[in-house]
Amino acid sequence: MRSQLPCAACTVCHNSARLLRVATSDRPMIKDYTDEGFTAALCQYFTPAQPISEPEHLHGREPKLKAISRALGSPGKHVFIYGDRGVGKTSLAKTAFQLHSPHSKHFPLVACEANSAFFELVDSIRRQIAIHDQSSAAGTINLREIDSPINSGLALPTMRNINDAVEALRAAVSTSGPPMVVIIDEFDQIAEDKDKKSFADLIKQLSDQEINLRLILCGIGRSLDELIGVHLSTDRYLATVPLEQIPHDARWKILEAAATFFGIDFDRDSIIRIGQISDGFPYYVHLIGEKIFWDMQDDPVKVTAVSADHYQRGIHGAIEESQTSLRQAYELATQKHSNSDDYEEVLWSVADGKLLSRQVTEIFAQSYDRIVEQRHGRPKLKKEVFYQRMNRLKQDNHGRILFGTRQGWYGFRENVVRGYVRLRAERAGVRVGVDHVKFS
Ligand SMILES: Nc1ncnc2c1ncn2[C@@H]1O[C@H](COP(=O)(O)OP(=O)(O)OP(=O)(O)O)[C@@H](O)[C@H]1O
Ligand SMILES: [Mg+2]
Repeated sequence: MRSQLPCAACTVCHNSARLLRVATSDRPMIKDYTDEGFTAALCQYFTPAQPISEPEHLHGREPKLKAISRALGSPGKHVFIYGDRGVGKTSLAKTAFQLHSPHSKHFPLVACEANSAFFELVDSIRRQIAIHDQSSAAGTINLREIDSPINSGLALPTMRNINDAVEALRAAVSTSGPPMVVIIDEFDQIAEDKDKKSFADLIKQLSDQEINLRLILCGIGRSLDELIGVHLSTDRYLATVPLEQIPHDARWKILEAAATFFGIDFDRDSIIRIGQISDGFPYYVHLIGEKIFWDMQDDPVKVTAVSADHYQRGIHGAIEESQTSLRQAYELATQKHSNSDDYEEVLWSVADGKLLSRQVTEIFAQSYDRIVEQRHGRPKLKKEVFYQRMNRLKQDNHGRILFGTRQGWYGFRENVVRGYVRLRAERAGVRVGVDHVKFS
């Protein structure tokens, strides 16, 4: 198991003498670490700011990994992973790559941006393949050489059409052996429909012309049509992988793995609660977990269990350090208005419950009622006023945090925001998102 090994990302891991304050048995407790050693050990388990790339840390995605591996084994198939922001698309793509090319020292990944033009992206793919090949051959990557087209033999004529693009990629990959895999991330960022369409044409040609290259594309979207923007006939060349939130047991495993490694007793109620708050967006589990473990490390006494205080301070710390975009969305929707308490309670009510889209009558009766009860002394809004507040949250001056899915149905414009809303409610002592789960 990787938890026994030093963290590949941190050079500090490699000097174990510096990591421990006290030489103990093979599994030191938290206070036995120096901060430097603790940082190095903790980053093996909590990576709120980095995608996962190793199968043992990617929880709850085994069926998706199997589907991708089968697709890559099927001649001419490419993969498209799509889902909500922050749900784990890049992690799945990187881990799938890692399983496909276990000896690779470089992740060939091309990130799209709003002004990415198709031929520039093809050029980036070619460059990624060259870096990958050079690192595999030499064991190290010399970026300076790759940067120089003359040195790396990349000085090909300018691409003018799809045939040039196909030829450029044909020349870049080997003709035998397992296919080269390149990740095309943030596909949703490409602004121009014609560039998206060119990608679809490229995929078809790579398959038809048996080029030994497969693409794993990732993008934010609820459907592939929404993402690609134009109706395309690429379907049979593409294995589509819709990605949902990770299941409860996968959320728990992120925390349990760290608790086991550090020899910490993490009570099941807190683990379940963090899983519920996260709403299945693993970012929150990593963030809260990281904050709780740092709080234990900072405790003046030696700690062997997560206490209620560690938990509370972990929640506070996670709110403070949440992505700015989440904090801003929440502030804009609630705090910058009179009746800000009303708006917070309305948002908490929408974030309650399992379903991403809910009917307003159900939100009012099932969630709002219970939430106001927990607010000791706060007045309850009349149904009509509640509906009004809900409507306002769909408007520009509230950041359009909510949107109507159909008549009388509401959801968050970005589902990842639900986790942040749940965190804010938790800090205010209000429990939302309490669904009944079985802990095994
Ligand atoms: N299956 C998983 N198990 C554990 N942690 C995960 C899993 N998937 C993702 N993570 C963690 O969740 C966070 C978000 O993952 P990732 O960056 O892959 O999401 P994304 O969908 O690509 O996000 P974005 O839409 O912003 O590009 C990261 O902290 C990552 O380490
Ligand atoms: Mg991503």
